[in-house]
Amino acid sequence: MTARVEVEPFDPAHAAEGDLRGYYEVMLARQETDRPDEPRLSYEDVLGRLKNPFVGFGPVVYWVARLRGEVVGLAIVYFLEEESSHIGLTEVIVHPRARRKGVGTAILRAVIPELRARGRRLVETWQITKGSDGERWAESLKFLVVHTVLMQALVIPETDSALWRDDLPAGYRLRRWAGTAPDDLVASFAAARNAMHDAPVGDLAYQEPEWTAERIRAREAELRQNNIELRAVVAVHEDTGEVAGLTELELHPHRPFWGFQRDTAVLPAHRGHGLGRCIKAHLIRWLLEDRPDLDRIYTTTGAGNAHMIRVNHRLGYTTVRTMIAVNRDLFELEAELAGR
Ligand SMILES: CC(C)(COP(=O)(O)OP(=O)(O)OC[C@H]1O[C@@H](n2cnc3c(N)ncnc32)[C@H](O)[C@@H]1OP(=O)(O)O)[C@@H](O)C(=O)NCCC(=O)NCCS
Repeated sequence: MTARVEVEPFDPAHAAEGDLRGYYEVMLARQETDRPDEPRLSYEDVLGRLKNPFVGFGPVVYWVARLRGEVVGLAIVYFLEEESSHIGLTEVIVHPRARRKGVGTAILRAVIPELRARGRRLVETWQITKGSDGERWAESLKFLVVHTVLMQALVIPETDSALWRDDLPAGYRLRRWAGTAPDDLVASFAAARNAMHDAPVGDLAYQEPEWTAERIRAREAELRQNNIELRAVVAVHEDTGEVAGLTELELHPHRPFWGFQRDTAVLPAHRGHGLGRCIKAHLIRWLLEDRPDLDRIYTTTGAGNAHMIRVNHRLGYTTVRTMIAVNRDLFELEAELAGR
């Protein structure tokens, strides 16, 4: 069967309309099968994501697989940088009607030389729906499950806004910004982001960046270049003037009705006072002042992170699916595929 599959690199900027349509059909069918909780992707959504890939994960490279000329599968690989530059963050997606024909395996075989050429030693993938074909495929290739994550969604029109109480405990004040952290807070904000290193991330190979003011500025610039709007709310500790807790959200241009909730962290000395809930609630309220049409916010939380899951539930989030992250050493994976 594998002989008929043709896999080749895919450059969205120069792709033929037919291939872009094929790419979209694969993404849409995967969504219907593996992520039925999401609102249906439009063609423009998918093109928009190709134009504005996720920021902070390094350069992204694509492949498509064809059977009898028709696009039936694809790969999206982010070549992570800095602390994580040994990892190829790899997503392989096959149209449900072309599954179990060796397409996924053929795609992986085609991607591996590029992973090796770019100095990768590990293949990691983050967003496999638990209980799906993807989980069984990863098992068959002896990938190791390294983390389990809950995907949670806040559906704004269905949620009682009284849940977003942003009453701040005494001794703190709120600051917020869109795009650029104020100069007087950026160093302390970077330090507080390093508190994320405490969040349970299982055995992911990915390493959270060691944040500095310079790296915060570089990330802000990259987000701006990609037309991604960043919103942040922090709680500042009055006595020290330091950031005690932070939360961030991204608004992507091609999906104006969705918010992507990013990191939330409260420094250990300030936990247990409701700061996490308060800053997240304030962020939602602020967003809705400017974006009253916002439909939903998505967030991922480690399945073992009971505190954050509880905070999210209290804000009205519901858990929509469980996802697993897996990885495998690149050379072992190559040996595995050579034996098939
Ligand atoms: C995971 C995915 C890419 C696999 O694509 P595929 O083309 O069906 O995979 P292959 O045909 O190459 O499968 C190779 C082997 O994996 C195992 N496998 C794959 N899907 C399986 C399933 N649903 N149940 C049991 N075993 C399965 C089998 O051993 C299979 O060999 P076999 O068919 O000869 O028994 C596809 O199911 C998919 O797109 N899922 C959604 C996206 C996703 O979760 N990707 C995961 C990695 S990023």
